[in-house]
Order: sequence, then structure tokens, then C-alpha cells
Amino acid sequence: MKRILVVGATGFVGPALVEEFSRAGFHVVCGVRNLRSAAQQLDFANVEVIRVDMNEDLNPNTWLDRLRRYRVDGVVNNVGIANAFGGQSIENVNVNAPLALFEAVYFYCRENREAGRLPRDVPVIQISTTGVNWDDCDAYRYPKSKKLIDESLVETTGLKFIIVRPNVIYEPGRGHLLLEQIARLPVIAYIGNSPIQPIHCRELAIGIVRLMKNPSRADCSILQATGPEVMTWKEVFLSVCNALGRRHGIFVRTPLLVAQVFTNIIQRLPERLLYRLGILSKLDNDTIEMMTKGSTGDNTQWLQKTGLQPMSVFETYRHLATSPGAYARYVQSIRDRVVEY
Ligand SMILES: NC(=O)c1ccc[n+]([C@@H]2O[C@H](COP(=O)([O-])OP(=O)(O)OC[C@H]3O[C@@H](n4cnc5c(N)ncnc54)[C@H](OP(=O)(O)O)[C@@H]3O)[C@@H](O)[C@H]2O)c1
Repeated sequence: MKRILVVGATGFVGPALVEEFSRAGFHVVCGVRNLRSAAQQLDFANVEVIRVDMNEDLNPNTWLDRLRRYRVDGVVNNVGIANAFGGQSIENVNVNAPLALFEAVYFYCRENREAGRLPRDVPVIQISTTGVNWDDCDAYRYPKSKKLIDESLVETTGLKFIIVRPNVIYEPGRGHLLLEQIARLPVIAYIGNSPIQPIHCRELAIGIVRLMKNPSRADCSILQATGPEVMTWKEVFLSVCNALGRRHGIFVRTPLLVAQVFTNIIQRLPERLLYRLGILSKLDNDTIEMMTKGSTGDNTQWLQKTGLQPMSVFETYRHLATSPGAYARYVQSIRDRVVEY
């Protein structure tokens, strides 16, 4: 049984990654900040949880000890913060700690080779974002930090890695934007008409598991994990309403400044109310501005390397509208089917 270290195993994408690795027969070592909340989120087979803190674990030796102790065969760095809420340093969490981790992987492989031990190669998957493709990406701390760590990884010799750059990630019932909740609102505010290419969280997680199942695919490539359709935010909301067979509310295109003021106010509401508005993310002004910019990416390589059947927004919510069972079967069909491209 292969042992995978998933750093950033909680939150939105993390538990989906852990679940898909667990279903695929891996032993998952989950690096988390909060052991108690992790225990609630990561109730899957063959999972163990260890405490890490990317704001503080900046020494490669800290990571080397962990790699040795847990005999790790592969690493996924899923940690990423879009803003400095909670007094965190974006530079430490998104750049310096991953750098220390990747350096440790290099030393771990080298000492294994020298001692004639396995594993000699430990593939690394770094979760980035399509936002690094913006020409003015350096104007925003989040994509700037992701670009920095991606570039460092590319420049590192002797590591086998894949950088996965997802677009906006969604999943019914989970995540930062609950599209099925937004589809219920009488007034749907949206900002800008820039194109995005949303990807289903399961497509992302199943794809990453497939990449890790076949370490020869860790060929230092960069994959754009984007969904099958280029859409505006308004088209995303319309598609969800149509798939759920619901009349959509009134669409109101909101100027950026108004959206920022409005979001700053609603962020003060209790989580229960935020859930009803479909927003569960900590949004700051920069994050709202980034949402107006949009981003897309060519997913050809992503699909070729993972053999995935892409999941569209409409198909996802159409199956959900049929029944929870139909939706579960749809997700299972994505797990089971391998497409030859
Ligand atoms: N969501 C999207 O639409 C989207 C789009 C493109 C790229 N991404 C990337 O995908 C990855 C996952 O995103 P997400 O939406 O799942 O974000 P998320 O829900 O905010 O989860 C982020 C993860 O990072 C962990 N983390 C934060 N600070 C940490 C620290 N100091 N030490 C250790 N772990 C820490 C969080 O742990 P806690 O649970 O303890 O906070 C959580 O496990 C990120 O790298 C993000 O940049 C996301």
C-alpha cells in the first residue's frame, strides 16, 4: 500500500483528495493544523493525521523527520491561502514552507538511494491556480505567491513533480461557493463578464489520485485543471438553475466597489446565514477583484494524463436534481471510467 502525505488535508479540496486516495487503496498521512476538526472531516479508511503548520514549519529538517517517520511514497501539497486572515503570512504558507517540504523530499530521496532503500523517487504534486497565468499576476499576493513556488519547483533539479493549476473549484454541498444555494436566491448578484472554466472538486481529486498511481507521469509538467466549458459567472448560475429545473432570480451585474462593500458587510453575518447566501469563503477585497478577472486554461494535457471524463456544471446539477443516488452514481462513473484521448 502506497503512503501519500497530503498537506492541507482539511478545508474544501483536502477531504476530497483524502477520500479519493483512500478509496483508491492508498494509506493517507494527512498534514493538518487542527487535529480535532481533521478527525471530523477525514473519517475514511487508512488515514492517519499528523499536525503540521505551514506558517511555522520552515525548516527542511522538520519535514525530513516526517518523511522518514511516515515512510512517505508521494507528496501532495494542497495548502494555499488567498489572504492573510488569522494572522498568517501568505509568503510562509504558500512559498517558504512548501519550499522546505520540497527540499526535504529531495534529501529523503537522496538518502534512500545512498542507503539502497525505497522509495528512491517521491513524486510531488503541487496544487497551484490558473491565476498565475494573468499578465498582472504579481499585483495580487495570492497568485504571485503561487507563481513563486511553482517557479521554484520548476527550477529544482532532481525532483519529480507535477504542478496542477485548477480553475474555480465547485462541488454540490461543499466548498466556498454553494451554487445550489445561490440558484435559490431571488436576486443573484454577479460581477463582470470575464470567462472562467470551473472544475468539479471530484474531477480534480480523482485526477490527482490517477497521476499519483502512475509515478512515471510525474514528469515535471504543468497541467491546467480546468473544466470542460468556458463560462461567465452569470452563465454558471444560469446553468445551475436550468439543471435544477428552477426559475432563476433577477440577475444584477454589480460594480466591483459595490460588491466589495457588500461582501465586507455580509462577511460579518453568522455562518448559518452565509450558508443560505451560498458563500462560505473568507473573502477580502483582493479576492473579489480576482473573481472579476476570470481565467481559463487548456485542459488537454490534464485530460490526457488522467484519462478523465470531464464533469460539466450542467451534468453535475442535472444528476443532483434527479436524486442523491443518481448523483452518487454519476461521480462513481467518473471514478470507474478511463478515457483514451
Ligand atoms: N477553491 C478554489 O476554487 C481554488 C481554485 C484554484 C486553486 N485552489 C487551490 O487549491 C488548494 C485548496 O483550496 P481550498 O479551496 O480547498 O482551500 P481551503 O478550503 O481554504 O483549504 C486550504 C487548506 O490549507 C490549510 N492551511 C491553511 N493554512 C495552513 C497552515 N498554516 N498550515 C497547514 N495547513 C494550512 C487549511 O487548513 P485549515 O482547514 O486548518 O484551515 C486547508 O487544509 C489551495 O492550494 C488553493 O490555492 C483553490
